[in-house]
Amino acid sequence: MRLLKNLFDKNRAWAADIKKRDPDFFSKLAHQQQPEILWIGCSDARVPANDIVGLLPGELFVHRNVANVVVHTDLNCLSVVQFAVDVLKVKHIIICGHYGCGGVKAVLQNREMGLIDNWLRHIEDVYLKYRGKLDSIADFERRFDTLCELNMVEQVENLCRTTVVQNAWKIGQELAVHGWIYRVEDGLLRDLDICITGMSEISMIYNVAGKLLNGEKR
Ligand code: CO
Repeated sequence: MRLLKNLFDKNRAWAADIKKRDPDFFSKLAHQQQPEILWIGCSDARVPANDIVGLLPGELFVHRNVANVVVHTDLNCLSVVQFAVDVLKVKHIIICGHYGCGGVKAVLQNREMGLIDNWLRHIEDVYLKYRGKLDSIADFERRFDTLCELNMVEQVENLCRTTVVQNAWKIGQELAVHGWIYRVEDGLLRDLDICITGMSEISMIYNVAGKLLNGEKR
């Protein structure tokens, strides 16, 4: 191997470490996966899903994209959600945003980065929706934090409005959608009290968005 040999070394050490604690770990895992949780997070290298919540391989079904966006025409994300809900029967979907998100910052700073600007239009839609209140926050870091939070909140709503989640709730399937946010600076998750277990609870999202904009959540 010409390059990145160190990663193979690390991989062998990692697998050996797990086997030391549970010799059958990988052979058991080979038969099937039974994760109870789907994680939708940002691609950012500083936000590794399993590590943050201390879960082992097999315990978390994961979809990541730039700025943890759920778009109703994104076949990739929708397929992950559909497979997780209909086939794996996960009981929880976590949308995890994070402070300091580069995608969100690019929108706030009107930065041009090429093709990805098209993807970030979805974040711009969030910004435009709340622009009046957001622009009144004088401090840039606070405005940035708030848009990171609002983006996560909006994506929770998008997810709840997908046919997959709606149909699961319609047939009485147990499924909770959570909205969390992670801070890179301290490695800690923050719960914004978003836990939606049915369509009747969707107003929870608007309450949280309102509180965030009024500065009541910090
Ligand atoms: Co990000």
